[in-house]
Amino acid sequence: MQKAYTTALLLSCVSFDHVLGFGTINEPAIIGQHCEHERITRAAFACPPDKEISDGRCFEELSLHQLSGRSDVYVGQGSNGAVGAPDMLDPVPEGPEAHCDNADFLDAQLFDLGVEYPVTRQQATKQLQICINHMRGRIEEGIDAADKIVDGGARIIAPEVDISTLDCRFSFPALQMHVFTRAKCSAIEGFGRALHGIQDFYAHSNWADDAEPPFGPNNPPGLKRIDSPVFLDLRGENNISEQVPHNLSTGCFGGLFTDGPVGKAGHPLEPGSIDCTGRITHHTLNKDNGLIDQVTGNVSTPGPNTPRSDFPGNFQRAVSAAIKDSRRQWRHFREAIRRTYGTERGNIMICALVRDKPANDCYGRRVAILRDVMKTANRIAEMQIPIHKWLLEELADKPHDEGPGEGVTEQNSTKSRGSSDDLYRLHPDDLDIDCDTNTSLDIGVAMSELVHHSTPLPNNKTAVVALTCASNSDLAEQIAHVWHAGDQGIRMHFGILPKKDQILYGPKPRHQTALTGKVREEDLITAVLRTGGTYSILHNREAIPRFIDHVISRGLTQYDNARDTAILLPVGLSISDYVTPESEPRRFSFDASYTNNAVIAVAPMIPKLALHVTVRHVRKNTVLSEQYIGLGGNSTFVAELDINDVPRTDAWFELEVAHAKGGGLVGSGLFEVSVETESVDTGAENNRVHRSEKDEHDEL
Ligand SMILES: *[C@@H]1O[C@H](CO)[C@@H](O)[C@H](O)[C@H]1NC(C)=O
Ligand SMILES: *[C@@H]1O[C@H](CO)[C@@H](O)[C@H](O)[C@H]1NC(C)=O
Ligand SMILES: *[C@@H]1O[C@H](CO)[C@@H](O)[C@H](O)[C@H]1NC(C)=O
Ligand SMILES: *[C@@H]1O[C@H](CO)[C@@H](O)[C@H](O)[C@H]1NC(C)=O
Ligand SMILES: *[C@@H]1O[C@H](CO)[C@@H](O)[C@H](O)[C@H]1NC(C)=O
Ligand SMILES: *[C@@H]1O[C@H](CO)[C@@H](O)[C@H](O)[C@H]1NC(C)=O
Ligand SMILES: *[C@@H]1O[C@H](CO)[C@@H](O)[C@H](O)[C@H]1NC(C)=O
Repeated sequence: MQKAYTTALLLSCVSFDHVLGFGTINEPAIIGQHCEHERITRAAFACPPDKEISDGRCFEELSLHQLSGRSDVYVGQGSNGAVGAPDMLDPVPEGPEAHCDNADFLDAQLFDLGVEYPVTRQQATKQLQICINHMRGRIEEGIDAADKIVDGGARIIAPEVDISTLDCRFSFPALQMHVFTRAKCSAIEGFGRALHGIQDFYAHSNWADDAEPPFGPNNPPGLKRIDSPVFLDLRGENNISEQVPHNLSTGCFGGLFTDGPVGKAGHPLEPGSIDCTGRITHHTLNKDNGLIDQVTGNVSTPGPNTPRSDFPGNFQRAVSAAIKDSRRQWRHFREAIRRTYGTERGNIMICALVRDKPANDCYGRRVAILRDVMKTANRIAEMQIPIHKWLLEELADKPHDEGPGEGVTEQNSTKSRGSSDDLYRLHPDDLDIDCDTNTSLDIGVAMSELVHHSTPLPNNKTAVVALTCASNSDLAEQIAHVWHAGDQGIRMHFGILPKKDQILYGPKPRHQTALTGKVREEDLITAVLRTGGTYSILHNREAIPRFIDHVISRGLTQYDNARDTAILLPVGLSISDYVTPESEPRRFSFDASYTNNAVIAVAPMIPKLALHVTVRHVRKNTVLSEQYIGLGGNSTFVAELDINDVPRTDAWFELEVAHAKGGGLVGSGLFEVSVETESVDTGAENNRVHRSEKDEHDEL
């Protein structure tokens, strides 16, 4: 063991055994010398060795240090990182609520204990709720702090993200006002402190455990679960009591002097020591210690001398579950940032959190704008970051070149202009798109301009945005180009406009579009989706700005958003996407508001595909509808604002589409999602949605 010592406030993970004697630490999770939180966090978030550049899911090296801590440095350096912060002596570690302790329960009747268990299920659940509320609060702190990473125009505020010379220092709990620290550090701190509790939950509970009878307070049953509990979805604001399994227990932690195989009364000399008499102890359940491979997450030498880590496989189960849930939490955190600040600013915030040199690396995009118009040539636009307004103006033929490489001095280290508050309102007539003329998109030319531009830029920072008419039969001939773009890392986004008076809305038989035959349109869609871009049918021209919303939400370029994140589902679009058995489900988020309900329709686009569709109310943390749609079926959902949502005036829904298994169905394929709104004061004639001929219709 290294003798690492820095300051009284910044102890590295490896130094922790030296402070054990202080006796004020009421959380021995990492005292066991192996930096478990650090290694779990590294296993969850390190970028793969062959890909050191983050796509938003992994953290680059220096940024990861801030989150995970670093014990692999020489004596006198090192830190416990944000994830270790709740164990730090600043001046005392965080209490049981930060580690999900003391939510112990055993059903005395079920297990024939003969005596009442000192804690009821309700009391235990209440304790767990305190832990969850605490973590929700930490997440909220992180999200609040992220606001300062970029300015109103989505430009990175360089000093707020600079970790090149000084590691983050995490603040005293009492001073967590995020005024003194760099915004990047505070955002990571909020997330990391929550993550600590998430990881501890698996080490301190029987969620993932295996166990053998006879069961009693010193050997509670194991739930042997491999999923991540729904009550740990920290985006929720719900009371978890209905979601907690009856047999779930964490351990009662009486204090350092009292924790042991048998629950004891509190120790009079230890501040905060509690009475664990007759209860399941932290000692009994914990799987806090063991060696974790920080790349694979594989474990060895668990324990020793705690009953649950001595049970074969339990330490691995806890660590694997913690790694898996850590990744889910990061996805949720990203989704919450995007929802809170919009995807335009949110994507840059996320980029700034995961990248080591965000003030350089998050900038620089090149976009080819293609339109079905005779008059103007296709354009290549340079913009430092994807800005909604500029993309729209480009479509309306108002050029907005920022040029490459601006602003590296301190005064303007935030690149050039950024987005502006005065939102450009696009009038549909500004776009001289005439779907009755006979033109074609020249994707090939646009691509070669993108790639062979005078200033080099990686292809994964380039994209093509094409707005085109359904009538264009040449489109199908572009498949080869699109396929080639995918190979090169250029992202293609297709927005298909209806002809005048043509209604292209909702899941419909595919011959609606005048492409030459079903197969070819599907081929084109597949080719587009393969680039990571979107293939969207616009219900009308007013949907053009929302199409751009969707493009930015999905990620203008490969650089801009990771595939696992929920994508904004704006009104007025029918969006094609695909699932495979290997891929994570596709996720979409949408809102219902005071004045409008959201009407969502989902349909497989190929005959044998079956989909597992789930609609979730995120804040209530409940599944509103779960359906299997197969064999060419489709279904619609209406999502509306509930009385509980009213303080916020909107409601956050999440649609998850996964493949369904078995029954001679293929596991992968294309599907289409569309959203319309319907006014809340529904007189039949007010009803903006025509949804007459829908089969299943779920009122949510
Ligand atoms: C983008 O491309 C560059 C250069 O080809 C590569 O090094 C980098 O890993 C890519 N980034 C992403 C996020 O794929
Ligand atoms: C949650 O609901 C349960 C059961 O209805 C109730 O006993 C408990 O007090 C509630 N918890 C909170 C924090 O409101
Ligand atoms: C609790 O655990 C016992 C023993 O494993 C099991 O028989 C019982 O069904 C479980 N109860 C619930 C509600 O899961
Ligand atoms: C990690 O564990 C898994 C499952 O036991 C195993 O397949 C894999 O080979 C292990 N990896 C290493 C590097 O030991
Ligand atoms: C950035 O700052 C430098 C020096 O302060 C100035 O010369 C330059 O014009 C600025 N660039 C922009 C785009 O504002
Ligand atoms: C469209 O172009 C094709 C070939 O370029 C031509 O044969 C056809 O008449 C044109 N249609 C219209 C409506 O201009
Ligand atoms: C969706 O349902 C409607 C109403 O039942 C039907 O007319 C339509 O053909 C269905 N679409 C698909 C793709 O099955």
